[in-house]
Amino acid sequence: MEFWRVLVASGVLASWILSVGSADLPVCQFPAIYNFGDSNSDTGGISAAFEPIRAPYGVGFFHKPAGRDSDGRLIIDFIAERVKLPYLHAYLNSLGANFRHGANFATGGSTIRRPNETIYEYGISPFSLDMQIVQFEQFKARTLELYNQAKDPSEKAKLPRPEDFAKALYTFDIGQNDLSVGFRKMNFDQLRAAMPDITNQLASAVQHIYKQGGRTFWIHNTGPIGCLPVNLFYNLHPDPGYVDQYGCVKGQNDMAMEFNRQLKERIIKLRTELPEASIVHVDVYTAKYSMISNTKNLGMADPLKVCCGYHVNYDHVWCGNKATVNNTEVYGASCKNPSLFISWDGVHYTEAANKFVADHTLNGTLSDPPIPITQACHKQ
Ligand SMILES: *[C@@H]1O[C@H](CO)[C@@H](O)[C@H](O)[C@H]1NC(C)=O
Ligand SMILES: *[C@@H]1O[C@H](CO)[C@@H](O)[C@H](O)[C@H]1NC(C)=O
Ligand SMILES: *[C@@H]1O[C@H](CO)[C@@H](O)[C@H](O)[C@H]1NC(C)=O
Repeated sequence: MEFWRVLVASGVLASWILSVGSADLPVCQFPAIYNFGDSNSDTGGISAAFEPIRAPYGVGFFHKPAGRDSDGRLIIDFIAERVKLPYLHAYLNSLGANFRHGANFATGGSTIRRPNETIYEYGISPFSLDMQIVQFEQFKARTLELYNQAKDPSEKAKLPRPEDFAKALYTFDIGQNDLSVGFRKMNFDQLRAAMPDITNQLASAVQHIYKQGGRTFWIHNTGPIGCLPVNLFYNLHPDPGYVDQYGCVKGQNDMAMEFNRQLKERIIKLRTELPEASIVHVDVYTAKYSMISNTKNLGMADPLKVCCGYHVNYDHVWCGNKATVNNTEVYGASCKNPSLFISWDGVHYTEAANKFVADHTLNGTLSDPPIPITQACHKQ
């Protein structure tokens, strides 16, 4: 490690180290993953807290609804596979959960900032990031107490080991809903003005976990929200200039890129504030957009086509729902081959798309520093 630092400090060999160096670092033995986020990484939180997500969600991989907004696995599931840990159970799931190797605090609809308490907004989760951090702190204190009281080894085996919190991988994928709430309530200038507060609150979440002993952080930026097919459900004939050549809403993607620019800057500052932390910024935006802009070569369907649900003209029956259209009962069914689609339900990605993003981010190609997730415990 010291040898490493000296070389980097000398500057001369720094670029050589970054190009070949991570190959020399040992693989990290993460004993657990703690995840914070929204529906992009919810593995059962919203389903446990409210109504279960119903079929045909989960049909592809789990062969039943699995608390995920997709036909199969999410990026967080591919992360778990890559670091050789079991899929994460939702913290909110009181039945059958095993938290030995981590917990998932993400819930569909979560924002970084607290939702408005006076007006309930449809689809927005009460478990905003600050709440998820409070839940994590309670989880850590409570499991420690239970671990120390447990007499039976089989009881202990379901709980995280106290020493594992410092060695765990802490992952974040949140911010997309702060943008979508922003699009509904503010103009672009107001939203841009709110971004420093939003990125500061994400930084504050990381600081809280650092205080609790966490040292390895893997932070996704936000995706090209303007490319979600839902944006055009009620706007079938957008004005020229409103969308780009792939059908993505340009103004929304510009806001996402501005958010990501500010997030990256905030993360760079965070590294100086938390000197012992390894904080990896992951450019999920670029992975998703390169997939969306390259569907022809990838052999995938038009990125604005939706696999599950009935969306014809202005009639919309969402995935898994039933409704009457022209006096006919219509079911929002799954397409035959979800693996050819990018969008599962108009808002969430298919497992195939999630796998593409995981394959292009977990090896470090789109990370800063450019380090694979399997070696992310090493501070660069
Ligand atoms: C919450 O919504 C109400 C009603 O629209 C608005 O007056 C208030 O400013 C909002 N508060 C926040 C924190 O956005
Ligand atoms: C309902 O009517 C519209 C217009 O005639 C048609 O395009 C659409 O396919 C119909 N939908 C169903 C489910 O029959
Ligand atoms: C990471 O994986 C992607 C997709 O397979 C590949 O294009 C890229 O070259 C890989 N990068 C490294 C550094 O292995």
